[in-house]
Amino acid sequence: MANKSQFQAIKGTRDLLPPETALWNQVEQTAREVFATFHFGEIRPPIFESTELFARAVGGDTDIVGKEMYTFSDQPASTSPTAPSEEKGSGESSASQPSSATSISLRPEATASVCRAYIEHSMQQLPQPVKLYYIGPMFRRERPQKGRYRQFYQIGAEVLGGQDAPAIDAEVIEMLMTFFDKLNLKGLELDINSIGHNAPNCRPAYVALLKSELEKVKDKLGADSQRRIDTNPLRVLDSKLDFEQPIIATLPKIADHLCDDCKRHYEAVKTQLQLRGVFYRENWRLVRGLDYYMRTTFEITAKGLGSQNAVCGGGRYDGLVELLGGPPTKGIGFAIGEDRLILSLQEQAREAAAAQGTATEPTVQSPLITNQPPLIFIAWMGHNAYATAVRAAKDLRTAGFPVEVPPTELKFGKALGQADKLGAQFALILGENEISEGLWTLKNLTDGNQLKLSEPDLIAHLRSL
Ligand code: HAM
Repeated sequence: MANKSQFQAIKGTRDLLPPETALWNQVEQTAREVFATFHFGEIRPPIFESTELFARAVGGDTDIVGKEMYTFSDQPASTSPTAPSEEKGSGESSASQPSSATSISLRPEATASVCRAYIEHSMQQLPQPVKLYYIGPMFRRERPQKGRYRQFYQIGAEVLGGQDAPAIDAEVIEMLMTFFDKLNLKGLELDINSIGHNAPNCRPAYVALLKSELEKVKDKLGADSQRRIDTNPLRVLDSKLDFEQPIIATLPKIADHLCDDCKRHYEAVKTQLQLRGVFYRENWRLVRGLDYYMRTTFEITAKGLGSQNAVCGGGRYDGLVELLGGPPTKGIGFAIGEDRLILSLQEQAREAAAAQGTATEPTVQSPLITNQPPLIFIAWMGHNAYATAVRAAKDLRTAGFPVEVPPTELKFGKALGQADKLGAQFALILGENEISEGLWTLKNLTDGNQLKLSEPDLIAHLRSL
């Protein structure tokens, strides 16, 4: 037979596999629980949207829109050989009225989608603000490395409408820190900044000043920063290049050039954070890489991630809904990089295990994975025992215990070997004797102890452990 080539996941994408996916689920469940206590509801926007939505929201000159989006042309359904009848029913266009192809992009982020949905569903008519969260994959064609993928996952939240009260900024950050606290993730650092707003006496004046100062040192900067002097001077402040750091340190700081309103807002956000016991560090260079931000910006870095250590980013974006065709609307939110969060939790668990001398590579998870019900392997022998095994498995699963039942009979030694390989904590042994006596054998595979139990006592016993 011809040699068939095998397939691999596309560069920058990966399969998330058990047992790691259990940790992902727990992280997501924790987010759902914490966000619900702040009265956020879940939104599930589509994974692709019109390219123009991201271009307008995130900004045409940003790396995300300029270089990183997965964009394709979606032909009208009438030109597709597979779906001519579907289109007739859609009521939008028909084969006799071909519409032009639309440019579509896989979402690189979800704030734009949430704002689009806010407008599309007239959410401004709901009690304000509207508080929404989302969990799902995003797509950016970045150079893959540890903590940086082309398909990655975000857990994000947005507050839309209502006021721009600094208490809202602080509460959003408080929610975020509560979530990280619940996960027991240590060593996080929260950086905050204000980048002012788009009025002549505020950010534009600062950007003009920054630009003129950058022009003076242009020759000493790298190619990217030189280009950004013209396209987006604020982004020069983001540079991680060592040789640019002393130059950047001498540049004017935005905090000294905010208008009075933005200055007051920023001061009040800090007071509100203190009121909530949230520790922060002011970082005047935190400008963020998306165009829609104004006033408050923030970022959280975590340990164990190398250079890709930003585990969350967010900020205020009061003009965005209007920019997308909606009414003037306040907005603030954040997105956590779930892949990086998981890496950091695993790294923390690895360090803790190493410190205790109990390194458990490669399945090391996190302290989150505790109190899981034990896996029970049913070692049945003989035709008569099989029906009992099936019944026992059903009852145990109904009671919430994970159960493995071999589909065909195994010799006793082989069954216990299999139970061990699967990581079962108990073997329920059902042989001829157990069936005839009505007393089942429960073997603790960790210490080797065995117990005889009647069918009604089994679940009560397992629950009591
Ligand atoms: P962002 O800073 O572009 O903000 O992304 C947020 C987080 O997503 C980052 O801090 C990082 O943890 C994670 N992330 C970004 N790119 C990648 C990647 N290629 N691989 C792995 N993780 C990645 C936003 O996306 C904004 N929409 C956040 C926001 C919501 N602002 C207001 N509301």
